[in-house]
Amino acid sequence: MSTVIVSQDELSRYNSLIPMLKKHISEAGIDRGRPLTYLVKTYGCQLNESDSEKIEGIFQEIGLVEAKEEETPDFLIFNTCTIRENADIRLFGNLGAYKSRKKENRDMFIAVCGCMMKQQENIDRIKKSFPYVDACFGPSDIHMLPKILANKLNQRKRIFSVSEEDYLVDDNDIPVLHKRKFRALVPIMYGCNNFCTYCVVPYTRGRERSRSSEQILSQLRDLAASGYKEVMLLGQNVNSYGKDKEGEISFAKLLEEAAKIPGFSRIRFMTSHPKDISEEVIYTMKKYPNIERHLHLPMQSGSSSILKRMNRHYDQEQYLKTAMLFRKELPDATVTTDIIVGFPGETEEDFQATLDVIEKVKFDSAFTFQYSRRPGTKAADYPDQIPQDVVTERFGRLLELQNALTFASNESVVGKTEEILIEGKSATAPDVLTGRTNSNRLVNFRIPAGIELNGKKIDSSAPDFDADEFEGMLANVRITRAKPYSVEGELESFIDESR
Ligand code: 5AD
Ligand code: SF4
Repeated sequence: MSTVIVSQDELSRYNSLIPMLKKHISEAGIDRGRPLTYLVKTYGCQLNESDSEKIEGIFQEIGLVEAKEEETPDFLIFNTCTIRENADIRLFGNLGAYKSRKKENRDMFIAVCGCMMKQQENIDRIKKSFPYVDACFGPSDIHMLPKILANKLNQRKRIFSVSEEDYLVDDNDIPVLHKRKFRALVPIMYGCNNFCTYCVVPYTRGRERSRSSEQILSQLRDLAASGYKEVMLLGQNVNSYGKDKEGEISFAKLLEEAAKIPGFSRIRFMTSHPKDISEEVIYTMKKYPNIERHLHLPMQSGSSSILKRMNRHYDQEQYLKTAMLFRKELPDATVTTDIIVGFPGETEEDFQATLDVIEKVKFDSAFTFQYSRRPGTKAADYPDQIPQDVVTERFGRLLELQNALTFASNESVVGKTEEILIEGKSATAPDVLTGRTNSNRLVNFRIPAGIELNGKKIDSSAPDFDADEFEGMLANVRITRAKPYSVEGELESFIDESR
């Protein structure tokens, strides 16, 4: 694998196919008496979500309309994840469900992309057992989608186009559809160089390649000017941003430059690697209140010997030092983490070390995973794999401890008034809204009688009340009750009256 920078000329050649595709889609729509539709099914992390936003951007550009989840679309893409085994299993099950639908609509286009496509055995399985899949492409090939679609229209044969290269494209020249009205996902770098011994990502997403800070900041300025309140800077390891490019600024500096752009209320970033996060990042967060009061710092294990076998390049002491410095400098902020239980060779003592660190840092929440053996990774060949019953038992103890800490963290904000960025309707009831605090806490809240917006009283019990209308607005919400994974509240006032 090697990094290849895609030239403007090459990208223009792909983009120049868009008018032809648009004409074809429009004519097919006239023939069928309805617009042609698409669905993109996304699995996995936020980088995949961001990739899907580009796929949707291209789809909308060629004139496709998004189908409803339950409809059979004309163009269907599965953007896959392979980080743990269960993600793989889900894809093949879901794909199977479309066999009969394709029989009903022979012109339907089905493609699979994303991380699973970088594993030859998955391509072979699709070639052999899923003949109704029209195309497969890799996570760094999205800019070529117009060419893939054009080839499919011209040749009508199946296309397997998963590149060996790690492409870096000027994202600003790829159409993108931001799924949320208020939030823009902005990748700042692609790939990962770390080769943690359990992880497939370096094999599927290739080597680290940073976008230029000039391009990123120009994109951010455009987003702020178009009214986005929140940006999420994305990378597998944002703290090594720029290290692959001579003369490039550091992540701390990029974060600072982003924070200085007027307009953003929330700047978020994912994911920080404990070995690379600099104190400068913590001090930059402290200096700019529009940077989210939240640090996601994946620990994976609290045992120094397991961390070594995971190839994480930090030990328990170093992890604690960073987490505690952050706690001291930003006492109102939240700290979350990722933890893997049952890594090969994990003893009861190692597991206890993980529990110890959890008790010390008191994570506000954690993503907890059972170790999943991924073919091709180093740890898959370690001889001392842990029996499932031991993993299950440890996992239960881990959840019990973390759930208690998450609840205690939620209880600590009861009675406070927090600034909430409203995301829309909650999953609980149509008159309950949902949003997040600046420390990324999930809040479900009601609008009590008497609250006004732009001089008009809001009645959340009215039949035409639509909580989604408030998406993207900032409000002060008083937290009234802690729940296991969220908090409840009541709106006090809107902060800005626009979206
Ligand atoms: N098994 C279990 N969890 C894993 N993760 C990555 N690879 C594996 C694996 N093989 C987890 C890590 C990582 C998160 C995104 O997924 O905790 O931080
Ligand atoms: Fe995987 Fe480690 Fe890279 Fe994260 S830093 S993507 S866990 S290899």
